[in-house]
Amino acid sequence: MITLGYTPEGAPVRADLARMPHLLIAGTTGSGKSTLLHSLISQLGECKSWGLLLIDPKRIEMLRWAHHPALLAPIAQDDEAALEMLAALHDEMERRYRALARIGATGWQGGERICCVVDEWALLALHPDRERRQEAMRLVARLSAAGRASGIHLVVATQRPSADVVTGLIKANFPARISLAVASARDSRVILDQVGAESLSMPGEALALLPPSRELARFRVVLPPDGEPGARRSWRGWRARQIGAWAASAVPMIAWLGALAAMWLGALIIVAQFSSLEP
Ligand SMILES: Nc1ncnc2c1ncn2[C@@H]1O[C@H](COP(=O)(O)OP(=O)(O)OP(=O)(O)O)[C@@H](O)[C@H]1O
Ligand SMILES: [Mg+2]
Repeated sequence: MITLGYTPEGAPVRADLARMPHLLIAGTTGSGKSTLLHSLISQLGECKSWGLLLIDPKRIEMLRWAHHPALLAPIAQDDEAALEMLAALHDEMERRYRALARIGATGWQGGERICCVVDEWALLALHPDRERRQEAMRLVARLSAAGRASGIHLVVATQRPSADVVTGLIKANFPARISLAVASARDSRVILDQVGAESLSMPGEALALLPPSRELARFRVVLPPDGEPGARRSWRGWRARQIGAWAASAVPMIAWLGALAAMWLGALIIVAQFSSLEP
């Protein structure tokens, strides 16, 4: 189980990637996609039964994980390495299926699960080279359609939730979807099949479809343990900070009122003393 974030009431929103079995994440730039991925990677990386593969065509988002012990291969930092990694994962899936067939098993139990994280899928899905674009789409469609039974899971993030990036086939294979803030109601519909994500405003604020629940979950992404110092952990933390900031700004006012009250008290004491001197 991984904690995705916290509801406005402070309740954790958890998900089991092994059951999902894949996760699609969308959001405009700065909405918190990579933050969510970091949080997910840091939690999965602590589970002994999970191995990680990272695809980061932007080259900077995933650098902090370069030496993570759960990493099964070096981070794929360009389209060529990304396609090689997806193809190798596809071969591994086929190998696992053959092994399962040999022993007559129907599902993945006990063995290492692999989570392949793609931080910016649009860079592959909209690659200028048509062959590469089609190959990336073919591999992700195959892996997402058949990966589950061989313990292979995809977590795919995209800044552009347009229909050529999040195709019907991808949507069908990724029933679990999270939308951070998006630019338009149309984008929200592509990801969640309903409007709403276009009015999210804070970074890390999210709406999610997490089957088997049919209800839309609303939460704020939990920051990974090594997140930016002083960054907010949840709505509750954010609110606490707001109250703290308000209290801090009220301190000079309270001090000033205190001084005024002391002056009044002093004046009252003097008046009282003078009046007690009268015969
Ligand atoms: N839950 C959160 N609480 C506070 N700040 C957050 C939260 N989630 C994300 N942020 C902040 O929002 C900023 C942008 O987040 P992030 O880099 O994850 O966005 P992104 O969607 O990956 O953007 P891009 O598409 O440009 O890569 C970061 O400074 C991050 O710390
Ligand atoms: Mg990012």
